Amino acid sequence: MNKTLLVLAAARYQLDTIRCARRLGHRVVTLDNRPDNPGHREADKSYNIDTTDMEAVLEAARHERVDGVIAACTDVAVPTAAFVSRELHLPGPPLESALITCSKIRFREFLAGKRFPVPRSLTIDSSREPDAALFEHRRWIMKPDQSSGSKGIFVVCSRAEFGERLPQMLNFSPTQTGILEEFIEGHQGTCELVLRHAEIALTCISDRATADLPYVATRGHFLPSKLSTALESKLLIELARACNLLGITAGPVDCDFVAAGDQVYLLELSPRMGGNCISALMRQALRFDIVEHSIRLALGEDPAPPVGLGVRPCAAVILGVDEAGSLTYDPEGMQSLQRESWVQSLSLDMDQGAAVEPFINGRNRVGEALVIGTDREEVEAKVAELYRRLRLRAIQVSTPGSKKG
Ligand SMILES: Nc1ncnc2c1ncn2[C@@H]1O[C@H](COP(=O)(O)OP(=O)(O)O)[C@@H](O)[C@H]1O
Ligand SMILES: [Mg+2]
Repeated sequence: MNKTLLVLAAARYQLDTIRCARRLGHRVVTLDNRPDNPGHREADKSYNIDTTDMEAVLEAARHERVDGVIAACTDVAVPTAAFVSRELHLPGPPLESALITCSKIRFREFLAGKRFPVPRSLTIDSSREPDAALFEHRRWIMKPDQSSGSKGIFVVCSRAEFGERLPQMLNFSPTQTGILEEFIEGHQGTCELVLRHAEIALTCISDRATADLPYVATRGHFLPSKLSTALESKLLIELARACNLLGITAGPVDCDFVAAGDQVYLLELSPRMGGNCISALMRQALRFDIVEHSIRLALGEDPAPPVGLGVRPCAAVILGVDEAGSLTYDPEGMQSLQRESWVQSLSLDMDQGAAVEPFINGRNRVGEALVIGTDREEVEAKVAELYRRLRLRAIQVSTPGSKKG
């Protein structure tokens, strides 16, 4: 006991990890370049270093004599965690795989090279215009190379729309490049895996609700998934093969996929825990604590996840508003919802009146909820009821210059 865990990033999504590690009796060191992030206040020690500055993070890790490093729910820090664990001989995924999976361009090349099903795609930057003929019969999705939370991602139907969105997309790309790929209409899902000894030891497949096009922000995860058994086994076979080829043999893996016809397309895969309340969802659905499991693993233990878990129907809802403005909701509705037995948790990130942006990417969320039901249908009905009673929206604030007459 009493080991030291380095947690990369200290934002809202890392709080679970920080708290759990401390509850297990460990010393926690947090690190990122936002000193006012909430996780630092709960850590034993914190550093003001960019999580992508590999050498500086390694130096801090050496100085603190850490026994483990974890990048929970954050993609950009995954290669750094892999680098530190390699240099200090700690558990972690191979650095090369972390670099492949955190780049959308490199991950597509990997998948195509290994003959996985992939949408047609091309690399884009500010100097290349895609052929107008591309847009004749299909929709395309443009994504920054290294980004997350649907930031800078747009579905486009014409070259004009592409041109309009390009600067916004590049704005979120540290490499000033991105990918344009065929938008696959289908069943959107997320799969959390736990690998042990190079085999899948536990899975959690959810159906993902997304924002209305042209945006794709995740608005919720619903369990149990409605994916057919045949597609589910296809997904797991593909995931096992991808992890195997990438040399990822232990720990959590977070994957977004889309199933269309009899194909499953792996959109994104990362050797880390998923964000968007996934760990709370798994705790509710499976009574399995992926956070505690991942911490034990990062600190050199070899925990075995439980087998044969049944899925309890539930949904994680990420709350947001459609327009920019001032946040408003029904406070009585909120309080009465919080007392409902089917609302496991419901919280807003900001107060009534706060300035909010439309929910087009994860950054613009305003809260979250965890809803349970006896079956999937009831869960969906309860989520609809939650939206109805909360009456969450943004109202336009009139500024002095906007008055008419
Ligand atoms: N080729 C595609 N076809 C259909 N949907 C896609 C495609 N690529 C991405 N998406 C949608 O966009 C979302 C965000 O894309 P993703 O590659 O997962 O980026 P991020 O790192 O922002 O999560 C996905 O979860 C999915 O809903
Ligand atoms: Mg994703």
